[in-house]
Amino acid sequence: MLHHVKLIHATKSRKLVGKKIVLAIPGSIAAVECVKLARELIRHGAEVHAVMSENAQKIVHPYAMEFATGNPVVTEITGFVEHVELAGEHENKADLILVCPATANTIGKIANGIDDTPVTTVVTTAFAHTPIMIAPAMHSTMYEHPIVVENIEKLKRLGVEFIGPRFEEGKAKVASIDEIVYRVIRKLHPKTLEGKRVLVTAGATREYIDPIRYITNASSGKMGVAIAEEAEFRGAEVTLIRTKGSAPSFVENQIEVETVEEMLQAIENELKSKEYDVVVLAAAVSDFRVKEKANVKIKSGKELVLELEPTPKIIDRIKELQPDVFLVGFKAETGLTEDELIEAARKQIGRAGSDLVVANTLKAFGSEENEVILVGRDFTKKLPRMDKRELAERLWDEIEGLL
Ligand SMILES: Cc1cc2nc3c(=O)[nH]c(=O)nc-3n(C[C@H](O)[C@H](O)[C@H](O)COP(=O)(O)O)c2cc1C
Repeated sequence: MLHHVKLIHATKSRKLVGKKIVLAIPGSIAAVECVKLARELIRHGAEVHAVMSENAQKIVHPYAMEFATGNPVVTEITGFVEHVELAGEHENKADLILVCPATANTIGKIANGIDDTPVTTVVTTAFAHTPIMIAPAMHSTMYEHPIVVENIEKLKRLGVEFIGPRFEEGKAKVASIDEIVYRVIRKLHPKTLEGKRVLVTAGATREYIDPIRYITNASSGKMGVAIAEEAEFRGAEVTLIRTKGSAPSFVENQIEVETVEEMLQAIENELKSKEYDVVVLAAAVSDFRVKEKANVKIKSGKELVLELEPTPKIIDRIKELQPDVFLVGFKAETGLTEDELIEAARKQIGRAGSDLVVANTLKAFGSEENEVILVGRDFTKKLPRMDKRELAERLWDEIEGLL
């Protein structure tokens, strides 16, 4: 690997370490995104090999992809049978062929088994034994062409996964780099939670004072989102209940709520309609709400006293609805010693029947990191300060061990 590529390798995560990805680039203007896409895949640990159609080479010079990947770029199929080297069935073959950004032309050729460009030849070679993902990019009138629609349907039926597109400015634009990376990780990740159904809550609730003002808290929702996404990477069927305004997520199945009442309602609906294996309550729900919400905006300029009442305790409802679910609660307090925090976590285990409590010391509050103590029924584990994504991995390792 070239030195400048080594510098960025696996700096964001190790999710794609050991994975060989062929980035097969057709001639869409969105090919200009491929330098950044390749670098981002490498930051998650992947080894990337670019293959370019002749038309792609008119839009982005192969030098740019050579630089981005640190590997030779396939611009034509020669006597070295590059397509077999990269995508044939042998021990050194690619783990994934990512066709991005896919033109209407290339999609049509793949759907009909035609391979007259380096991109389509690599896909044909890989089709029977290597996963193929396609991220389309084209003008919306091209995307709506009935034969293009039919080609995409046909490929989906044959097991090809499509990423995006996003519809903007009259175009079916290529999916964002973040979404593509998310989907690639999800595709290639070990599936240790396959067959499990997981419910995760994330974010801060809002309790309205009047139609436009509310009481909330400083939770960003990042921890809950990281937990939900990690479960999805591991193959679980995930439902993420996210509060409005909190960190966005690529989890496929999401429910948006605002108030504690709505959060409780959504959880009850889920637990009454489906059997879950694990519930993780990472959302910071308000402990109080305004006793009487004003129907019109409260006038400014004079003193205002709000009377607050306690909100229902969501965590106490979970085991009532599904006694056998594995329940993970969070506990965050300020002004407590470590022992007192562990004690508070134990109380939650006693009261709500949590199987595991993530006790947050709040030492890293408001950052990308977290410092927590895991409190189980018969153990405590103090974890070092770490990135929220890394903590989500640690947490699922722990839960998998206890399930
Ligand atoms: C600047 C430029 C941008 C283009 N962008 C797209 C695009 O986004 N989507 C698409 O389907 N075709 C696009 N085309 C047309 C394709 O390049 C054309 O269909 C070509 O035959 C595709 O060949 P390939 O799929 O082998 O790369 C573009 C062409 C040019 C010159």
